[in-house]
Order: sequence, then C-alpha cells, then structure tokens
Amino acid sequence: MASKLSKNGAHALNFSSGVLEVAGVADSVRDSILDATERFPGTSGELALENPAALQITGLDKSFGEREVLKDLSLSVPEGAFVAVIGHSGCGKSTLLRLIAGLDEPTSGEIALDGETVSGINPQVRVMFQEARLLPWKRVIDNVALGLPRAARPRAQGVLESVGLGDRAGDWPSILSGGQRQRVALARALAGAPRFLLLDEPLGALDALTRLEMQALLESIWQEHKFTALLITHDVEEAVTLADYVVVMDEGRFIVNEPVPLPRPRDHSDPQFVEITQRLLKQVRAMKK
Ligand SMILES: Nc1ncnc2c1ncn2[C@@H]1O[C@H](COP(=O)(O)OP(=O)(O)OP(=O)(O)O)[C@@H](O)[C@H]1O
Ligand SMILES: [Mg+2]
Repeated sequence: MASKLSKNGAHALNFSSGVLEVAGVADSVRDSILDATERFPGTSGELALENPAALQITGLDKSFGEREVLKDLSLSVPEGAFVAVIGHSGCGKSTLLRLIAGLDEPTSGEIALDGETVSGINPQVRVMFQEARLLPWKRVIDNVALGLPRAARPRAQGVLESVGLGDRAGDWPSILSGGQRQRVALARALAGAPRFLLLDEPLGALDALTRLEMQALLESIWQEHKFTALLITHDVEEAVTLADYVVVMDEGRFIVNEPVPLPRPRDHSDPQFVEITQRLLKQVRAMKK
C-alpha cells in the first residue's frame, strides 16, 4: 500500500530518520515498526514528495543545558496534511511544537515552513493549547478578533459561526463551558486564516463526549480551511481519527510514522481503524515511560 492520501490527491510524507532510529527501542516495538514499514513503504523515507513540503524539519536538535530533549529529528509534511504526534509525557512534543511556532530556537538543525527557515513568530502559524487562554475582560467576539485589523471583524464573526457559537459573540468567556471556550480558542486561531495550525493537547481537558464533538468539528474545520495541522495528543484513538499520519516520539526521537489511509469521517469499528489503533497502542506501551 502506498503512503498516499486521497485528500488533495497527492499526499506523501517522508520520514527520513524513522527506521534509522529504531535501534534504541525494544525488540517488540522494532519488529512492529519494521512490519509497518514493509506494509507502508512510504515510512522508510524512499518515497519522493509529489508536493513541496509545507513543513520541513531537518536534523533538529534541542538541548536545555545538559539535557538533550530533541535528537536529530527529520520530517516532511505536505501542504494541507494533518499529522498527529503521540508519545509519553516529557518526550519532547511541546518542545517540538514551540520550535515550529518560532517560540524557541533549535540548538542545531532547521525547521522550514513553505521553504522559509523559521526564525521567530510567524503570523501564518497559530497555536492552540490545552487551556483556551481567553482574555476574561474581552467579550467572545473580541477574543476571536484579537490582533485582527478592524476590517477583518466580519471574518471573526464568520469563524465564530463555523464553530457553532455565532450567537455567543457578546458573552463574557467566564460564562462559557470548557468545550465552548475551546471552540472560541479554535475560532481565534483560525480568524487570521493561518496556513499552519499547531495543536498542543487542545482537547485534553474536555469530557469524553465533548471531546468527540470537538474532534468532528476540528476535522470539518480543517477540511474547510485547508491549513496544515500538527496535533499533539496522548489519545491514540484521537490521533487515528484525525490524522493522515501518526508520528510516535520516544525520548526526543521519531520512531514510527504510521499512515492512516482511511476515508473520513473515520469509522471506529472499521477493522483497519482498529488494527492501526491497536498497533500504535502496543508501540506506545512498549516504550519506556
Ligand atoms: N525551558 C525549558 N528548560 C529546561 N527544560 C525544559 C524546558 N522546556 C522543556 N524542558 C524539558 O524538556 C523535556 C520535554 O518537555 P516537553 O514539554 O516537550 O514534553 P512533552 O512531550 O510535551 O510532555 P507532556 O506530554 O507531559 O506535555 C522535559 O524533560 C522538560 O523538563
Ligand atoms: Mg507537552
């Protein structure tokens, strides 16, 4: 099976360090990685990109003092793809996201967005965190329109409507539910029409039902707005539900890149969905905590 997606017709993801890095992991994990690589040849890195990479990470290292947090990461993400990153707490996921967002600098290596090396904050990139981080003294619509020119205000209202909160524009954030606050945060992230949306556990604090609703919303918004998405999550099922590719990180390295070649919206009872989810769960469980 080729590592290509039907969306936009020409997705392929190069994962140059993936199978080179498996030497440091448990045998069971390595076997399943190699097994996955045989079934999805694109994971071994030999597949050429048909589209130029929207996000290109090359030989990325990040250390804090003596602590090496990210180790020689390389990844190419095609324009418009949805990538999920999973891995144990402390493996370096948020550090990676901060570097892509230009909130911190690599120790060595490079990150390029649309061919431009990241060097500081870029208006084309928006980040959404686990907490909505709304300004309590601004009404919902003013939170969404934050930083936008006055002329773009109608767009803020439109985006608020697309997350189902058009009628809450005049409310204060404090009277919204947790899920509604996250929807406002999503609208705020989208109001500037970013080309990249980075999501750091954005649904982690929500109850199970709201979380499922938010996953569906995120998918439809992504399909509508066509940005490139990178989602960090601890929830393997969420990753397989939303992502074109699931990347597993272990102690600062990418060890697996699993394509999810399933139609959307994904059917959780589809045997292939179950199989991919189970395999990823096994890989994550086999890694050292
Ligand atoms: N500014 C910093 N200074 C020193 N160490 C840091 C800094 N930021 C992150 N680290 C360390 O880098 C490692 C990775 O942290 P990071 O926040 O990227 O993990 P994570 O994978 O996002 O974890 P979680 O799933 O718990 O959010 C941790 O050991 C953390 O202590
Ligand atoms: Mg984190």
